[in-house]
Amino acid sequence: MQNFNHLVSIKDIDKEMIESILKRAKEIENNPKEFAHRMDGKILSTIFFEPSTRTRLSFESAMLRLGGKVLGFSDPKTSSVKKGESIADTIRMAHSYSDVIVMRHYLEGSGRVASEYSKVPVISGGTGIQEHPTQALLDLYTMKKEFGDLNGLTIGLLGDLRYGRTIPSLLYAFAKYENIKVYLYSPDQLRARMTVLSDIEGKLDYSVEEDLQQTIGELDVLYVTRVQKERFPDLSTYERVKGSFIITPDTLSDVKEKMIVMHPLPRVGEISYEVDEMSQARYFEQARNGVWTRMAILDLILEEN
Ligand code: NCD
Repeated sequence: MQNFNHLVSIKDIDKEMIESILKRAKEIENNPKEFAHRMDGKILSTIFFEPSTRTRLSFESAMLRLGGKVLGFSDPKTSSVKKGESIADTIRMAHSYSDVIVMRHYLEGSGRVASEYSKVPVISGGTGIQEHPTQALLDLYTMKKEFGDLNGLTIGLLGDLRYGRTIPSLLYAFAKYENIKVYLYSPDQLRARMTVLSDIEGKLDYSVEEDLQQTIGELDVLYVTRVQKERFPDLSTYERVKGSFIITPDTLSDVKEKMIVMHPLPRVGEISYEVDEMSQARYFEQARNGVWTRMAILDLILEEN
């Protein structure tokens, strides 16, 4: 198994490491009390340069449940970043004050830079449009919990496949398994980036689809994402594509009995509230699984460092 020094890209960890994280997450979910003192005396820094609800709170909850403590900022305007401090210098401070760092930043490559300057493990809590590795891990955990095995699943990814950073991380993770089939559904303007697709070419069976209804009956998982308004270079394109896909009970009228609907959240209209009451809805449980998965990530990364 590889070293687990940092987690800034799913590409940096192998399938064995992914499986160890999922296994540890299961052990923690089954018996959280057994892990309640694993991080006694340890401190997590959460430094967030972009808004977050789930990622920051679930990492903080994870550290507190492991017996550790948390410090950080969620509004860079209140830190010296506002005065022009660089990522490198901010990280040098965070590693002096803590044992592990979770950073969310709007710039591509920022996670890598942080990991190069940090003396303690750096975990990406979302890096620009590039990646969101811990989200992919909690997504895999949710699928595994549901189906027992990831091999053989058929998964539809719907929405903003261009600017949503959960998508590249998920595709890189799927490419490590056998027999996962992926359908990509999106408006033309929001198709997955060529750089991402070329990374998985020959490693993952995927196809770009025009019409969700034609293949929805084959899916085990429909993974919906938000149109990333804040990342569009021009708002007129956003205006044209927003609202172009909405999952309602009607959309799900002809799906496999055990099919589930996932979403990294926040949703802003892509899934109607009526779907929340349906047996397929798994997005709130998915968010809760973030706590077990992030506890496992912290536990394993600090075990090794
Ligand atoms: C995602 C993100 O920040 O990329 N949110 C999350 O962490 N659950 C998805 C999004 O913002 O659409």
